[in-house]
Amino acid sequence: MATYALDNASPHGTDHLGGLSGMFDQFTTDRISETTPLSGRRCLELGAGNGSVAVWLADRVGADGRVVAVDIEPQHIPEHNRLTVLCLDLTRDPLPPGPFDFIHTRLVLGHLPNRDTLLPQLCGLLAPGGAILLEEFNVQPNLFGNDVLQVPAEAPELGRLWDRYNQLRGELFTAAGTASDFAVRMHRLLLDAGLVDVQTVSYCRSWRGGEPGSWHATGSLQQFRPMLAERGFDGTAVDALVAGLANPQFQVSGRLLNSTSGYAPR
Ligand SMILES: C[S@@+](CC[C@H](N)C(=O)[O-])C[C@H]1O[C@@H](n2cnc3c(N)ncnc32)[C@H](O)[C@@H]1O
Repeated sequence: MATYALDNASPHGTDHLGGLSGMFDQFTTDRISETTPLSGRRCLELGAGNGSVAVWLADRVGADGRVVAVDIEPQHIPEHNRLTVLCLDLTRDPLPPGPFDFIHTRLVLGHLPNRDTLLPQLCGLLAPGGAILLEEFNVQPNLFGNDVLQVPAEAPELGRLWDRYNQLRGELFTAAGTASDFAVRMHRLLLDAGLVDVQTVSYCRSWRGGEPGSWHATGSLQQFRPMLAERGFDGTAVDALVAGLANPQFQVSGRLLNSTSGYAPR
């Protein structure tokens, strides 16, 4: 069975996960705030990465609430007195026992081969009236997203390298079992699971070299280095792109994040 193509234990894992937090935590926490109150709530954060969202939740649930954070590689999740961290493989381990008042997952389910069966199970863990929020990249072709908006004048080749890298990156994720259409199917899947008030909001913000979007890109680019070399994208190309990603003159349109919420009937 294919597995997630990246590795939190990599020396580049901190950049990759920190880039995601920097790009999306403000949007994600705004979405959570408009979706559910948190005081006293039981929350589940799946594929927690560096734990930034899990800790944000733990800071807000209060003395009567709790947060469970799950990841297959949870080593970046900080300790917090209202946070329980579980090392679980969501493709085969039993889910933590519910019920939960709020379940969140960002950029995880799309990578998991069992996403379509896991999602109804997650909905089944919700308490009556409980909320779920799913966030995934919408990578459908021809969308504004991940496009080069400016390259440094001294490095015009960066646009071509970025586009080629992203094509290969997509192929590597697909080969590892990541579904490119999951973000656009989540809304329907929540309706099919019987959830109510289902709503999707999308977010996309451009970034410059040196900003969190570039940390995320560099973190995955470095981790893919050996697989890219096998596909003809050699170390020189990777090095040139890594240098470009640190240059503020390099600007990219960012990726579109679909954020879909729904509620268990009361
Ligand atoms: C792209 S990162 C997203 C991290 C975090 N949710 C965020 O958005 O910042 C995917 C996360 O899912 C975790 N993951 C991948 N496969 C998993 C599995 N089978 N079971 C549990 N966690 C998994 C990874 O270890 C990683 O932390």
